[in-house]
Parts: sequence; C-alpha cells; structure tokens
Amino acid sequence: MDTIRKILITGASGFVGGRVAEALKKDYEFITPSHRELDVTSSADVEHYIAAARPDVILHLAAISDTGYCEEHPDESYLANVVSVENLAAAASRYGIRLVWFSSDQVYNGNLELGLLSENVTVSPENHYGRHKLLAEQRASEICPDSVALRATWMYDAEKPGMKTHRNFVINFRNAIENGTPLRFATREFRGITWIEDVVRNLPFTFDLPGGVYNFGAENTLNTYETAVEYARLQGLDPDTIVKPDTDRFPEHIRNISISMDKAYKASKGKIHFPTTLEGLAAYIS
Ligand SMILES: NC(=O)c1ccc[n+]([C@@H]2O[C@H](COP(=O)([O-])OP(=O)(O)OC[C@H]3O[C@@H](n4cnc5c(N)ncnc54)[C@H](OP(=O)(O)O)[C@@H]3O)[C@@H](O)[C@H]2O)c1
Repeated sequence: MDTIRKILITGASGFVGGRVAEALKKDYEFITPSHRELDVTSSADVEHYIAAARPDVILHLAAISDTGYCEEHPDESYLANVVSVENLAAAASRYGIRLVWFSSDQVYNGNLELGLLSENVTVSPENHYGRHKLLAEQRASEICPDSVALRATWMYDAEKPGMKTHRNFVINFRNAIENGTPLRFATREFRGITWIEDVVRNLPFTFDLPGGVYNFGAENTLNTYETAVEYARLQGLDPDTIVKPDTDRFPEHIRNISISMDKAYKASKGKIHFPTTLEGLAAYIS
C-alpha cells in the first residue's frame, strides 16, 4: 500500500466517490474525471484516458446505482454496470494497474439461505442490477484476474455540502421523525447497512487484497424492522411511534442479502474490519 500514490476515481461526483475523494485526499493524489471528461462505457475513451494518466490504482465507482432505474432501463444498466467494468479491467490488465471496483450485495437477492452469506455461495440474482453486477464480476475476473470486486451493502451518511447524497437509511429515518410519519420496515428482509465512514476507512486495505470478489460492509443478523427498532432506541425514541413492521414485503421468500466479512478479514490479516450495522449506527449517532 505504501507504493500507491496516484489513484484514478471514476464516479467521483457520486455518493461514495465524493466522500472517498474528500476523506483520503491527504493520503493520495486523486485523478477525478467527471462523467463528461471520461465516459466509462466507451472503451476507446477509457483506453486513451488510462494510457495517459497511468494511475497506480483505478477505483471504479461510476455506475447506475439505482436498482429501480436499472429494472426499467436494463440496456443502460448493462452499459454502465457491465461494459464499464469490462473497459476498465481491459485497461488495468494492459497497463498493470490495480483495479478495485464496487459490486453489490444485491447479487445475493435470489438466495434462499438464511444467515450471513459468504462469497462462495451460489448466487442467482432476481433483478437486472444484481444480474449485471454478477456478470461484471465474472467479466472482470476473466479479463483482469488481479482485480478486486467489493460487494458493498446499502450505505448511509448525512447530507454534506457539495456532495451527492441519495436517500438512505438515516435520512429516511430523520425525515420520518421530522414529518411525524412512521416508516414501515420489512420483517422478511435481512441486510447489512453500513456507514460510509467505515467504508472509506477500510478502502485502502483493499488495494493489497489478492484478486477476487469480497463482501465489503457491515454484518447484520437483525431483520430490517428489528434494525430500525434498535436505531430508534439508540436515539432515545419510542420505536412504536416511528417504526412499523411491514410483513407483506418479499412474499416469495425471505430476502436475505446479509454478508459475512470473514473472507476480507482473513485475506487482509485483520486489517479490514467493520463494526456491525448496529455498532455503526451507534457510532454515527455519537
Ligand atoms: N450507494 C449505495 O448504497 C451502494 C450500495 C451497494 C453498491 N453500490 C455501488 O457503489 C458504487 C458507487 O455508488 P454511488 O452510490 O456512489 O453511486 P452514485 O451516487 O449513483 O454515483 C454514480 C457516479 O457514476 C457516474 N457515472 C454514471 N455513468 C457514468 C458513465 N457512463 N461514465 C462516467 N461516469 C458515470 C455518475 O456521474 P454523473 O452523475 O455525472 O452521471 C456518478 O458520479 C456503484 O458501483 C454502486 O453500484 C452503492
């Protein structure tokens, strides 16, 4: 990691990219082309840009991250979420550059197993976004076996000036408190929910991981309703006034996309370590 200085971030204007670039700018020299300056879906543009910039690491965060939008626009999702990874993997392989990029825990959304899921379970995602992330993982490992794909969970943070912030767990919650409108949370859903600060803190350790696919975020054994109840309690609120159980969502099967962090923890010799979702929420509040 000590030899890594120059990092190219794609998607630096996004929720994750903006926070990574801001938080780590004292440690690295960042190159942060805008979408207009580098369209990652164009193989020619990517090739020219990487050939000129020659970073030590490509941190590929550009994507279409809105799962609903991807469901309605699968061709756009394919371009942004699969072709972009192919293009960057090809350039990384050609120039011997480390590629680290964000996949998603949504690759697990068709799984029927319960408990924390590890990377070696067979996955069969049920939506375009999850299928495209999985396909991108497969293409990246073929084109650039040394690349690192991080299966990120749903991330949260407060709004920050000049930074993109989409709706996330803590903002939805805060809006509900302010509006006095209770929120419904699924009892049949299990997922990790991770503070972006924990993602940023752990990210530099991914630059040294052996190539492969890694879960990357908070473990959580509670369902989403239970998580919200505990988050209300952490804030000293009466959960019943703000959190309601949604027992109808995910009728086909329990949606379990909760990740196990064992692989990244072991591969990084304990350096990559996330607090659990509840521990992260407690730290966020304090
Ligand atoms: N946010 C989450 O909770 C979450 C959870 C799991 C995984 N992820 C993954 O984490 C990564 C970062 O997510 P995010 O939340 O930061 O996404 P985001 O806020 O939606 O930002 C996406 C970024 O990609 C850029 N972009 C889109 N298409 C592009 C193209 N063709 N060429 C160049 N740039 C392009 C956007 O620029 P413009 O706005 O200028 O188009 C924007 O900067 C993504 O791979 C996402 O799938 C996110």
